[in-house]
Amino acid sequence: MITIRKYYLIAGLIAIAIFGLSLENCSQHEKAPANAAGQQRFAGSQSCARCHKDIYEQHLQSFHHLTSTPANAQTLKGDFDSANKFIVNEHLLIAAEKKQDSFYQTAYSYGEPKLSRPFNMVVGSGKRGQTSIYWFHNYLFQLPLTWFSETNEWTISPGYSRKVDFNRSITARCLECHSTYFQETTNKDSKADEFSRTNLILGVECEKCHGPGLDHIAFEERNPADNAGRASEHNPADNAGHAIFNPAKGTRQQSLDLCRLCHGGALTKSKPSFSFQPGDKLFDFFYPDTAKPASQIDVHGNQYGMLAASKCFKNSQMTCLSCHDAHKNESALAVQFYVKCEACHKSTTHNDCKLASTVSREVLRTNCINCHMPEEASKAIMVIRQGQEIPTSAHMRAHYIAVYNDISKQVLSVQK
Ligand code: HEC
Ligand code: HEC
Ligand code: HEC
Ligand code: HEC
Ligand code: HEC
Ligand code: HEC
Ligand code: HEC
Repeated sequence: MITIRKYYLIAGLIAIAIFGLSLENCSQHEKAPANAAGQQRFAGSQSCARCHKDIYEQHLQSFHHLTSTPANAQTLKGDFDSANKFIVNEHLLIAAEKKQDSFYQTAYSYGEPKLSRPFNMVVGSGKRGQTSIYWFHNYLFQLPLTWFSETNEWTISPGYSRKVDFNRSITARCLECHSTYFQETTNKDSKADEFSRTNLILGVECEKCHGPGLDHIAFEERNPADNAGRASEHNPADNAGHAIFNPAKGTRQQSLDLCRLCHGGALTKSKPSFSFQPGDKLFDFFYPDTAKPASQIDVHGNQYGMLAASKCFKNSQMTCLSCHDAHKNESALAVQFYVKCEACHKSTTHNDCKLASTVSREVLRTNCINCHMPEEASKAIMVIRQGQEIPTSAHMRAHYIAVYNDISKQVLSVQK
């Protein structure tokens, strides 16, 4: 056993040296040409604050904004003091350490520090967990320990199983979902995706959903009082002109495709990451999803797939915006979602809840989503906890809206 663990650590070091492995399962790893530098004309979210102050302030609290950040004392949620170690076995442990103002994960073999890598950036708001990544030349790697918020402890990062090393490379597709922009510098000789260390925008920011905004700002500055004529210039599909994309003014497909870029699960790309722009057709950039039945789709990151299988979605013009405000942190609003359901389901429209005649309206409302969109264990956000062999799942809200009889019975029994 001991020699095997030691071998893993050494193998990990070697793999780092030769950039051998991509254990990424989020998307197919392919050698795509780098996206053209400077092609995208970003202004930065702060420049939007001048004219859209309220939205900007809401956005700073949102999980989209918080989903990737520089790693520092403000953003890191993990314990760096007493509960800062993960014991892999009696001879190998990984510790999360703070030295002056910097943070590291260090592997100790037989009590000796063997390898130490910095926390450079954080991926994940920490609502469920935070994974951290570090630069090695122009490559990015995931650190072996992830902070798991459901149990407040360090765990082995998703994708690592019990083999602990420092060499899970971070792909452009991972960053496409968790940031606004990274300039890819991958070339045909690269062993894994390479990135510019300076041309990047962390967080899912304004311009990820609205398109690069420099031209819009220039237009609004030239025409401060001009509200007429804007409608024609704000052509939803025209992100290159002086306008900007508003998902609410696009087609249903455009609105859904934008959210689906990141909430549509593990799609396989047919064009380089970061080429998709708001307003574009998703399947001009990805191979059409091999449609799985809803029962097989994971709750992780595939809200689109689950929703699209629901009768609500199939029999209405529903989009994500029927229920969500993409600018807000809605985590305290769960119980109020019934309002969105009642926009379509009420006694007057004859498609009210079947229990409406036997259960009080109050009970129906407070449990509406608990019965029809229950929380389920994710098959993708899974971590290994100290002392356990079987991974533990984070819990996610199922977007397959349906009748769940067993769960409904449980909910009703608690009410009594
Ligand atoms: C100089 C002021 C100014 C700045 C800076 C600015 N905007 Fe605007 N924006 C406006 C005005 C004015 C409107 C039109 C508001 C209206 O009449 O509804 C607008 C409208 C919009 C719309 C809706 C467009 C539509 O067709 O409905 C979006 C989306 C938008 N802005 C996003 C942004 C983003 C993102 C940024 C930062 C990159 C930004 N704005 C920066 C002034 C500005
Ligand atoms: C996750 C995607 C997303 C992000 C990030 C985002 N928006 Fe939006 N924005 C939307 C959607 C969707 C709508 C349409 C909302 C609706 O009307 O239902 C919208 C609408 C707007 C509008 C026009 C409608 C209005 O409420 O005035 C403006 C202006 C706007 N956004 C500005 C911003 C700014 C500024 C930021 C960053 C501070 C930002 N957005 C970040 C998705 C996003
Ligand atoms: C660039 C990728 C990206 C796009 C585009 C995007 N999202 Fe997200 N969204 C994320 C990520 C990543 C998270 C998880 C953030 C976290 O907690 O770290 C998230 C989180 C959310 C959440 C959960 C917030 C919570 O309470 O946990 C909602 C709701 C959401 N997105 C809705 C939308 C909608 C609606 C759209 C389309 C208008 C959209 N998103 C577009 C990447 C994206
Ligand atoms: C297809 C888009 C996509 C890809 C690729 C992706 N994620 Fe995510 N990730 C999401 C979304 C969306 C969420 C929000 C939770 C959910 O819906 O499962 C999320 C959640 C997370 C969380 C938990 C955040 C929280 O606190 O709730 C972490 C950590 C995370 N992702 C890390 C990664 C890392 C690291 C990679 C690359 C190795 C990656 N993700 C690849 C879309 C993606
Ligand atoms: C945009 C309108 C709309 C919204 C919003 C909406 N639904 Fe529906 N829902 C429908 C339609 C249409 C059907 C198909 C049956 C019908 O016509 O009554 C349906 C069907 C259902 C069904 C039956 C599913 C089945 O498999 O038999 C349930 C349960 C349901 N909705 C619950 C909800 C809940 C809970 C919410 C809020 C989280 C919600 N709906 C939001 C339009 C909507
Ligand atoms: C205690 C759990 C529970 C709550 C709370 C609840 N439902 Fe239901 N709902 C059910 C069950 C169980 C059925 C199926 C009953 C049957 O077929 O006899 C159902 C049926 C439905 C249907 C009809 C499905 C069909 O077959 O056509 C709709 C629509 C619906 N619910 C919407 C809602 C909405 C909207 C809310 C919240 C405002 C809500 N429900 C609250 C458990 C619940
Ligand atoms: C019929 C209403 C409805 C629609 C439509 C809808 N959602 Fe949700 N969504 C919810 C509810 C309810 C929650 C749970 C909120 C909570 O528990 O805080 C939720 C939670 C989420 C979360 C957080 C995941 C979690 O487990 O907490 C994400 C991400 C999300 N939605 C994305 C989307 C995306 C993307 C779409 C469009 C493909 C979408 N939603 C469409 C009702 C909806």
